[in-house]
Amino acid sequence: MKLKFANFKMNMTASGLRSYLSAILPEIKEYEKQVAFFTPCVNLFVFRDFEGEFGIGAQNFYFEEKGAFTGEVSLSMLKELNVSLALVGHSERRQIFGESNELIGKKLSAALKAGIEPVLCIGESLEERQAGVAFEVIKSQLRLALGNVDKLKSLIIAYEPIWAIGSGNPASPEDAEKMHGFIKETVKSILESSELSVKVLYGGSVNLENAGEFLKMPNVDGLLVGGASLDPAKFAKIVKADC
Ligand code: PGA
Repeated sequence: MKLKFANFKMNMTASGLRSYLSAILPEIKEYEKQVAFFTPCVNLFVFRDFEGEFGIGAQNFYFEEKGAFTGEVSLSMLKELNVSLALVGHSERRQIFGESNELIGKKLSAALKAGIEPVLCIGESLEERQAGVAFEVIKSQLRLALGNVDKLKSLIIAYEPIWAIGSGNPASPEDAEKMHGFIKETVKSILESSELSVKVLYGGSVNLENAGEFLKMPNVDGLLVGGASLDPAKFAKIVKADC
């Protein structure tokens, strides 16, 4: 079974998350190991009241260990809340909050050092795809993010074309498959390791209708789901889409 990660973005209050988890966890009991929930940091404490083998994910953090960084959250703070995964480089962070490739590289290295598994998000814009440079853009995002990373055993990447996020216009499963194969080869060549296990998730307008088609693709190792993860009944069905 492939990975199914839910990116709630800036949705749900703590009580909303509590109701969500109460509804979904009994439905996905057998598949928990493949599932992770990425919630705003302020709601992470809610997971203390729910047991299970699902992953707890943060949507954001700062790379420094501590200090005068008003408004930021450190990796050690996340670890105390049992966070095991964190998104890095999501296009909304890049575009709305101005996160640079340099910052993304620093965050990725800090997460690896702290023992929190980063999910590195990459993706090209519509203009870049139409100009035929999508593969080059992806290669450059990978080079910049992975430039300072030492040997690794495994890495999770989310391929999320910017034009597909929240647009109702997903990539075709065939295009995702092509790009995922390219991402795996590129990561292995940047990190000079053929043994490295690279998992590539697809994200961008995944829904109940198309999830199964993406999951059939051999190089699609899972899904990162935004909008369609907010309804527990819907997301439970997506979790089971390849069973
Ligand atoms: P979406 O978002 O599923 O709503 O398109 C995906 C994401 O941004 O991770």
